[in-house]
Amino acid sequence: MARKSVADEVSELRSLINHQNYLYHSLDVSEISDAAFDGLFRRLRELETDNPGLVSADSPTQRVGGQPLGAFDPVVHELPMLSLDNAFGESDVYDFERRIVARLGTGSTRAEGSLPTEGSRPAEGSRPAEGSRPAEGSRPTEGSHPAEGSTSGIVFTCEPKIDGVAVSLTYENGVLVRGATRGDGSTGEDITQNVRTIESIPLRLLGDGHPEVLEVRGEAYFSLSAFNRMNADAVRNDQKIFANPRNAAAGTLRQLDPRLTAKRKLTMFSYSVGYVADGELPGRHSEILQRLQTWGLRVNPLIEVVHGAEGCIRYFNDMQTRRASLDYEIDGVVFKVDGIDLQQALGQLTRTPRWSIAHKFPAEEAVTTLEDVEFQVGRTGAVTPVARLAPVKVAGVTIRNATLHNMDEIKRLGLRIGDRVVIKRAGDVIPKVQSVLLAERPADTEAVKLPLACPACGAEIIAPEGEVLARCSAGLTCGAQLKENIRHFASRLAMDIEGVGQKLVDQLVEAGMISSSGDLYHLTFEQFVGMERLGPKSAENLLAALEASKVTTLPRFILALGIPEVGESTAASLASHFGDLDPLRKADLEALQRVPDVGPIVAAHIDGFFRQDGNTQIIDSLIASGVHWETVTPSAVPQTLAGQTIVLTGTLTEMSRNDAKQRLTAMGAKVSGSVSAKTTLVIAGDAAGSKLAKAQALGIEVRDEAGLIALLGELE
Ligand code: IVH
Repeated sequence: MARKSVADEVSELRSLINHQNYLYHSLDVSEISDAAFDGLFRRLRELETDNPGLVSADSPTQRVGGQPLGAFDPVVHELPMLSLDNAFGESDVYDFERRIVARLGTGSTRAEGSLPTEGSRPAEGSRPAEGSRPAEGSRPTEGSHPAEGSTSGIVFTCEPKIDGVAVSLTYENGVLVRGATRGDGSTGEDITQNVRTIESIPLRLLGDGHPEVLEVRGEAYFSLSAFNRMNADAVRNDQKIFANPRNAAAGTLRQLDPRLTAKRKLTMFSYSVGYVADGELPGRHSEILQRLQTWGLRVNPLIEVVHGAEGCIRYFNDMQTRRASLDYEIDGVVFKVDGIDLQQALGQLTRTPRWSIAHKFPAEEAVTTLEDVEFQVGRTGAVTPVARLAPVKVAGVTIRNATLHNMDEIKRLGLRIGDRVVIKRAGDVIPKVQSVLLAERPADTEAVKLPLACPACGAEIIAPEGEVLARCSAGLTCGAQLKENIRHFASRLAMDIEGVGQKLVDQLVEAGMISSSGDLYHLTFEQFVGMERLGPKSAENLLAALEASKVTTLPRFILALGIPEVGESTAASLASHFGDLDPLRKADLEALQRVPDVGPIVAAHIDGFFRQDGNTQIIDSLIASGVHWETVTPSAVPQTLAGQTIVLTGTLTEMSRNDAKQRLTAMGAKVSGSVSAKTTLVIAGDAAGSKLAKAQALGIEVRDEAGLIALLGELE
């Protein structure tokens, strides 16, 4: 057999890399390991370096090619980039549908773009006879008009409205030749160098049948995880942080140096086509999106095709509930008439099409007055400022407090007491102060000052130079720290003592009945019934819950101790590494750092914790009260799940999700909270929702609870 030529190998490597890139960035799955991918990439780069004649602009090695630009060139869009009219409530959506039906004529229910009826589909654009049976699936009420409570039969594609930046990509014969911003809609800026660095944008389209010229439009954005990582890095490197993912995306796309853009993980969802020359595209918007996906472009997996305004509203409600679990910001949904011929028949106004509308989520921002800044003391003594606000409604919820994180954040915002501030509430996130309205600043505002003494115990507050957090120096003799420490000890993921919540802990500490978590187990029936609003039944329940909590697991116990920087996953790592508490207590800094995830800072916290007499006494008292766990012999647990990334979703009936997590972790698996390309198995309990759907869409193995038990049983 003839030896493969270098040119053939280069071309094979490019298609392999492009295909894997597509799977990874567009479909969220990976077929090969990162190391194998890097190997392919290195080999291609090597061949190209040795054979410069083979380098081409669409090679995956050429994403960052150019030099920093002095300015961006203007790009005149072949077709204007439109914006969308907004709907703010259900009646706006019904009005939108009514306008469409009126414009298309009453027969529109049978026109192209409506639900096709098997065997009886009329010719494109033809109108059915007056009074004929409406299309199947449209469920209109007898003799009704397309109005509220009925379905017109118009088919819509529904899409999340991504809060990012609109981008236009032009492909000529399948090769990316230009990227542009929207600009004023008719003229944008040439950002080709920057869009080439976005890994989810193919430099060459996959497959075939591409039109000679194809303009793809979509939204470039930062995932929330990428955004948070980027801002955390910026804080560490003393750089400016971005106010929100959209600003970050806009700033990154308009970077003159493409090497900077390449470092930031922008991504893009394609949502339509613009100018097309010499080529055929399907007749429905939803099919065009599918086609774009087969050509390697990333299309949102949450897009749905529905019937009528009712279907649109259902989609809106569904997305509103899912919003908080998405890893990107959406500010509403977009409805588009699915039939391209109907879109053309409907046409457009100056700047907005008649066939599409954005249904916005209720405003999540509101303006109010900062009445005061108070300081709260957390479990580890961190003193954090909290904004006390004049009550204001944001998306239906009255907000009185907002987090301010630390003094640096107050400085960044330029915040003063008395200021008019913009409050933002996103999903189920704690409200935050977004910005200060400087133009509305009253004359008598006051600076925010970090107190010198702890607001809870009066001890000195230490704010070490270079550290963002100030701390109360009193340790567990500070009432606020003590309360938080005990509440944490009893919490669900730690000792899980039912009934011992914030209120009860506050009462117990304030009455001087307990001064450490260990004291909880010395409380008596008489002491409980002597408390306000506690009857004999509740007292019995509390004692039973305390007794039950004594049988625990090592990871829960380690977590319960409240060692600074030791959360659930570090506690699990420590437990499986050391197997029991004693070796952990005796471990020196070096031994601690041999545990996965434990670096010098965490090791120092653990070491410091076990060296404090007060802590040793509490641990001994807990053990003397009967708190115990089964030892985990690390070597006895075969690491049969090493390398697996498992997601637990839905309700488990035989065990708690947390116990399942601990057992899987002990067998070497990584248990993650969200389904991604890296997930290898999803355990779906009862009523599993979007994570299960995503796993199925990605073709990831799914097991039910019985499957989980079988998996854990492989251990026994
Ligand atoms: S369609 C003619 N679909 O929202 C249709 N836009 O004012 C034009 N956006 O500038 C846009 N997600 O940047 C469309 N799924 C989506 C979208 C979307 C976000 C942005 C886009 C546009 C603005 C609408």
